[in-house]
Amino acid sequence: MLAELTHRCPLACPYCSNPVEMTAREGELTTAAWADIFAQAAALGVLQLHLSGGEPASRRDLVDLVRAARDADLYVNLITSGIGLTEARLRELDAAGVDHVQLSLQGVRAGIADMIGGYRGGFDRKMRVARAITEIGLPLTLNAVMHRHNLDDLPETIALARDLGARRIEVACVQFQGWALLNRSALQPTREQVAEAKRVVEQARRDLRGVMVIDFVPPDYYADYPKACMGGWGSTGLNVTPDGTVLPCHAAETIPGLTFQNATRTALAEIWYDGPAFNAFRGTDWMPEPCRSCDRREVDFGGCRCQAMAILGRADATDPVCRKSPDRPAVDALLSEEPSTDFIYRRLEPVRGR
Ligand code: SF4
Ligand code: FES
Repeated sequence: MLAELTHRCPLACPYCSNPVEMTAREGELTTAAWADIFAQAAALGVLQLHLSGGEPASRRDLVDLVRAARDADLYVNLITSGIGLTEARLRELDAAGVDHVQLSLQGVRAGIADMIGGYRGGFDRKMRVARAITEIGLPLTLNAVMHRHNLDDLPETIALARDLGARRIEVACVQFQGWALLNRSALQPTREQVAEAKRVVEQARRDLRGVMVIDFVPPDYYADYPKACMGGWGSTGLNVTPDGTVLPCHAAETIPGLTFQNATRTALAEIWYDGPAFNAFRGTDWMPEPCRSCDRREVDFGGCRCQAMAILGRADATDPVCRKSPDRPAVDALLSEEPSTDFIYRRLEPVRGR
């Protein structure tokens, strides 16, 4: 379960997957409400909790939230930019039971990293936080979101992760949801960059075997088949937004006509098993052709519903990334677009309260 504790964040990354319409601080759940949701999640069978945002460190009660999650017997992964964390606070989080920290990386030098994050001085602070994490002995994953502006720095990115003592690096090519979708043409890497990135990852995996795990999320517009988004809708994961709305995926609210429920008013188990949004695209019954008769239908589950919505305006269509989709030309047309040179930086424009 991904718990988006807050949409507040000191950074302004244009690749953010948060929705364009965000929840204001006044709409955020209380500590007690989150603790209740964590307990319900554990009872439902959730094993891993990802504390995310926005920036989860923007919540003053983060240590209490970690403690509540561990009390519920959940494995706690903290997903953070590092801004708002000090060594003292990290030690408190460690004592509260955080199991793993996933630190975002915007670039390998202050110039590019602070430009992407829209936050001057962010890179230096992040490096201090990374060193504190490994000194304390917490397992560290670096999450490097890669795109047109930093993919050429991939060898240095992998080297930096190793120097910082990360056990794992996620080389995650940007996925176009939320704010990232607004910035698609500025962020889309070129075909040549992607081919070189694959080569670099393969070489680094050989060189660093037994030292550091390298996960690679390719940019799916260049792929032949779509990703199994969320491992299949309503199959293995759920998201809870800052105001307690429970979603099958982080971008589900972009799909018109779905009804979402709130975990402060409806039991999480009821939402998961019987909720209309969770059942909308669960399994294979909803599928159109060519998915319905495809032998990959239980491999990728027809791809990403939000991507079909974003590109085609139809959430119940085959993901147009798929080579078998009659709509694949729509993706190819996007790939041949002239890149934009401007970013639309993420900013909190609160329009949704509780
Ligand atoms: Fe996946 Fe549907 Fe494409 Fe088959 S047709 S590969 S199930 S997206
Ligand atoms: Fe919603 Fe992929 S992001 S299904």
